Amino acid sequence: MEKLKIGVIFGGMSTEHDVSIVSGSSVLNNLNGEKYEILPIYIDINGFYYKYIGNIKELAKLHVGDGIENIEKIENPITYLKKCDVIFPVLHGLYGEDGTIQGLLELLKIKYVGCNVLASSVAMDKAYAKIIFDKAGLKQAKYVYIYKKNNKDYEYIDKEFNVETLDINNISKKISNILKMPVFVKPSNSGSSVGIKKANNENELKSAIEYAGEYDKKIVIEEEIKGREVECAVLGNRDVIASCVGEIKSAENFYTFDAKYNNAESKTIIPAEIDKEISDEIRTSAIKAFKAIDGKGLSRVDFFIGNDGKVYINEINTMPGFTQISMYPKLFEAEGLEYSQLLDKLIELAYVNE
Ligand SMILES: Nc1ncnc2c1ncn2[C@@H]1O[C@H](COP(=O)(O)OP(=O)(O)O)[C@@H](O)[C@H]1O
Ligand SMILES: [Mg+2]
Repeated sequence: MEKLKIGVIFGGMSTEHDVSIVSGSSVLNNLNGEKYEILPIYIDINGFYYKYIGNIKELAKLHVGDGIENIEKIENPITYLKKCDVIFPVLHGLYGEDGTIQGLLELLKIKYVGCNVLASSVAMDKAYAKIIFDKAGLKQAKYVYIYKKNNKDYEYIDKEFNVETLDINNISKKISNILKMPVFVKPSNSGSSVGIKKANNENELKSAIEYAGEYDKKIVIEEEIKGREVECAVLGNRDVIASCVGEIKSAENFYTFDAKYNNAESKTIIPAEIDKEISDEIRTSAIKAFKAIDGKGLSRVDFFIGNDGKVYINEINTMPGFTQISMYPKLFEAEGLEYSQLLDKLIELAYVNE
């Protein structure tokens, strides 16, 4: 029997390019070579496509930030992609997790792992994900959403999309009156904590808004939830299962880029030591959030358990980190699903039309 051709795309044009290389290399190393013909496809930061022609095992040695060697340019990516039966876009962030590559694959009529265009783009855009979470009745931090209009002005956008244009001083003042400090300021389209700052007062808020504005015109500002940070993995198309809950113990003040990838002191605890009742609530909410964005295949849903004992949703990631030590595969490993079996399941789900 001919083997299924699986194209694994990694790298990509986002700030999470380096993380994607490590995620992609784990996926490549765990795909069952007896079942699949594996085509590793690397996208560089400028959007050019390459075949990876080195030994896949070598890729597994890479750490976040290492460059990639042994690549050969693909002159016609469309023809090359068309060779694949299924594509696994192991891309994080913009141009990968946001519906754009999914749109390309839809146009090419190629099956792919994970969420479709709509779910990917809604989940990627924190402002819109929050609107959907509100609609689904999922509790979350109190937030506001602003838009950087130009170098001087910002738009404050209220819950009914009424717009008020204000300069940095006035918008910061307005937000300080609405939200309780400290707040988290986030580029709406961000990932791996890039562009995110915590602000303790109005002055810090101003600079955090300006900083976030360097990454995205849309900016979300939300109240801090003091408590624990937990994550739950979901898998499925219409029949969705949720994994156990895992806890993040960040080595830093919050879960920054360095805390995620460069600080060995950051720990994950699987399963989290929490009451069954809370764990059940998180698992149910994770599936609900996934359904609410019209998810497919997989997602990792992140929550806080506040010191008030309540569960707050933070975000949903449609292409979560996939390194050997990443939460998503580890949560399912704890359920008895080995990494390579998980990949088989994801590929199978890419095929199912229901
Ligand atoms: N409202 C909040 N309360 C407390 N911590 C937060 C809040 N929002 C974000 N954080 C911290 O910042 C990190 C990154 O924020 P997040 O929204 O998850 O962005 P990203 O998509 O970049 O992962 C979180 O993992 C958490 O540690
Ligand atoms: Mg996050």
